[in-house]
Amino acid sequence: MIELSNIEKHYDLGEMQVKALDGVSLTINRGDFVAVMGPSGSGKSTLMNIVGLLDSSTGGVYKLEGYEIHDLADKEQARIRNQHFGFIFQSFNLFPELNALENVMLPMSYAGISATERKGRAEELLEQVGLNHRLYHYPTMLSGGEQQRVAIARALSNRPDLIIADEPTGNLPSDKGKEIMDTLINLNREGVTIMMVTHNDDQGAQARKQVHIRDGKIVETREGAAL
Ligand SMILES: Nc1ncnc2c1ncn2[C@@H]1O[C@H](COP(=O)(O)OP(=O)(O)OP(=O)(O)O)[C@@H](O)[C@H]1O
Ligand SMILES: [Mg+2]
Repeated sequence: MIELSNIEKHYDLGEMQVKALDGVSLTINRGDFVAVMGPSGSGKSTLMNIVGLLDSSTGGVYKLEGYEIHDLADKEQARIRNQHFGFIFQSFNLFPELNALENVMLPMSYAGISATERKGRAEELLEQVGLNHRLYHYPTMLSGGEQQRVAIARALSNRPDLIIADEPTGNLPSDKGKEIMDTLINLNREGVTIMMVTHNDDQGAQARKQVHIRDGKIVETREGAAL
């Protein structure tokens, strides 16, 4: 599904060059659950952003379903992002002026889905993450774990093939983190591909594949326990 060959992300800061990614090669197959691990500053978010088409590499080749991303127009990349990828971030990134339901409905409006269908599907998704009693709550009225569950529902709104999660449990107490992890594991069982950054070894061990990054390079890849 995704094939990265020798991906580089270099920043030129005058005298200094930062190699945020320095030759990363990685294959992500359909149905994979990949945990990306490594110290702060090692390039994990940079890698996630490039895979998610939120950022572009400065070298190497990124192929998605056999197509070279480099050759695709920005508009086409935006379409792929909206229709095939779902994002979950450490800081939830919900719109504060929208309630839970509206937050989940938003990506569907970009995809041109009718208002009735958007609402029905958003309700279903929020129910799926256990928040059917919080549809009209605004983010500030929700706990951290609840906000992250809204973010997961939102990430699922356009039925993504791939979920890109950058430390989705980083801001949560461990019991809430476990709930989020269980949700991701269930989604993976239903066939959604997951790529997740985590600092938590127990979570990493639950992924099918663990990729360890250091100084912009993959230093170890391990196939973990079956889910
Ligand atoms: N716009 C930028 N300009 C220059 N350097 C950058 C830029 N963005 C990121 N970097 C550098 O690239 C490196 C990788 O950053 P990245 O955010 O990918 O790390 P990370 O592994 O996600 O760390 P953390 O665990 O703290 O989130 C860091 O050293 C960072 O300072
Ligand atoms: Mg990061």
